Amino acid sequence: MTLDINGKPVSVQAAPETPLLWVLRDELGMTGTKFGCGLAQCGACTVHMDGQPIRSCVTPIEAVGAAKVTTIEGLGGQHPVQQAWVRHDVPQCGYCQSGQIMSACALLAQKPKPSDQDIDEAMAGNICRCGAYQRIRAAIKDAADFGPPTGEAHADIDEAIVAASGATHRGAGR
Ligand code: FES
Ligand code: FES
Repeated sequence: MTLDINGKPVSVQAAPETPLLWVLRDELGMTGTKFGCGLAQCGACTVHMDGQPIRSCVTPIEAVGAAKVTTIEGLGGQHPVQQAWVRHDVPQCGYCQSGQIMSACALLAQKPKPSDQDIDEAMAGNICRCGAYQRIRAAIKDAADFGPPTGEAHADIDEAIVAASGATHRGAGR
C-alpha cells in the first residue's frame, strides 16, 4: 500500500495490520520515531496523523490509509519547536524527545498560547524517564512566544497540522 509520509507518497510492503512504527523504523529506516513500550503507554512513538498526535506503535497501517503522516524527520531539524528545545537544552538521554516534540507541535497548532494546564493535559501521555519535564514546559512556552509553530520551510506541514486541528489563527513565525 501507499502511505503519505512527510508530504510524499511512499510505497510499503508490510502487511496491513503492521503497526506504523514498525514500517517507519524497519521498512523505511526512519528511526527518529522511537519504540518505548509498544503499548500506547509512553509516547515515544508519537507521530501526527492528519495533524493529530497518535501512538504509532498501536496504529496499524491499514488504519492510516490515505491520512497524512508527519514524523520528527518531517520537521526538518530547524523547526521553531526544535529550536526552542535546543535553546533550553531539553534532552538528557534524548530517547523520549521526538515523541515529546511531536506532541508539543500538535498542542501549539491547536493552542498557540497554552496554559500550564493545557501543557499538562497535552503532554501527560509522554513519559520522560530522565525527568526533563520542567525544561519541556519551558521550551513549549518559549516556542509559544514565537507564535504558532510555523516557518517557511515547514509551512506545508504546519498548515496540515493547523487545518486538521481546526485552528484558524496562524501568526508569523520566526
Ligand atoms: S512505544 Fe508507543 S506509546 Fe510507547
Ligand atoms: S530525555 Fe531521557 S527519557 Fe526523556
